[in-house]
Amino acid sequence: MLPTIAWRGRSVLMIDQRKLPGQETYVRCRTYIQVAQAIEKMVIRGAPAIGIAAAYGLVLGVMSLSADTGRSIDRDFERIYVRLERTRPTARNLFWALERMRAAFERNRGQGLRGLRAALLEEAKAIELEDAETNKAIGRHGRALIRDGMTVLTHCNAGALATAAYGTALGIIRAAVEEGKTVRVFADETRPFLQGARLTVWELDKDGIPVVLITDGMAGWFMRRGEVDAVLVGADRIAANGDTANKIGTYALAVLAKENGVPFYVAAPTNTIDFALADGGGIPIEERNPDEVREIGGRLVTLPYAEVRNPAFDVTPAAYITAIVTERGIHRPPYETSLKSPD
Ligand code: MRU
Repeated sequence: MLPTIAWRGRSVLMIDQRKLPGQETYVRCRTYIQVAQAIEKMVIRGAPAIGIAAAYGLVLGVMSLSADTGRSIDRDFERIYVRLERTRPTARNLFWALERMRAAFERNRGQGLRGLRAALLEEAKAIELEDAETNKAIGRHGRALIRDGMTVLTHCNAGALATAAYGTALGIIRAAVEEGKTVRVFADETRPFLQGARLTVWELDKDGIPVVLITDGMAGWFMRRGEVDAVLVGADRIAANGDTANKIGTYALAVLAKENGVPFYVAAPTNTIDFALADGGGIPIEERNPDEVREIGGRLVTLPYAEVRNPAFDVTPAAYITAIVTERGIHRPPYETSLKSPD
């Protein structure tokens, strides 16, 4: 399997996540506009993966500039930056990656266009590489939370497909399995985009990790029956107090977990943490096209004009979160202090 995203000779290749698991096809983006559209249309999705895509998008944008336009490169850079920044509002990783690329731009602007392009490409590749290493570290820390024989419920897809490789929540499961533990996964289907049914099941099945697909509404019942030992999810943005934005439906899972005495864990790289936000109240929540709810697999399941709401994320208050795992370790409440330094 090719990675989720890869730089291939002046273009970015991405596995088309809209088509999985039915078709394993790849989309090649040659311009920053194509990258921006790929992020918006969910060809690529998942907080770390869209950060990496945006970084490569900036490289493509700068590669398309020519030195003899007479215009200031700063204005062009800004135009490319803003287009990529406006793709999806919730995941902190997207803005983090773009900010890091801007810092590389500032450091290397004196080098001429050729040197600048090379420096930006190097930075984007570093972001991708570091993400894969970060996920391995999240796995090494987080596997301590997983006991042999556990059934872990996850929501959406926080796996290799959502990152450079290995995954965050699924990275912890992979790490537990790699050290010889038996782990069974319950995957919520994750309406409306079905990341759980289409992506998590596909990914875990490829690795031979036992996975059971359930609809979102079944999770509470399985918790009540004692069939879920832990809930483990990824994150799109974590506020300084630990409040966590993740795929819509995560909040309900956290409440159900607390009600049923099931630990609720979040896994994410530290670049998902937004220390500028004191709590989750300020996290921008993306509202997507209502047709995603009106249709399943392109087939209408309601009246074509049915009124719909389609927030893509929700915010789980820190009080429901047992621990947050990052590449730095396991962080426990109170998160205001522990997110700055783990246990
Ligand atoms: O809308 P998506 O598919 O981009 O949402 C993805 C999620 O909510 C993931 O759980 C999150 O980005 C973490 S991925 C490691």
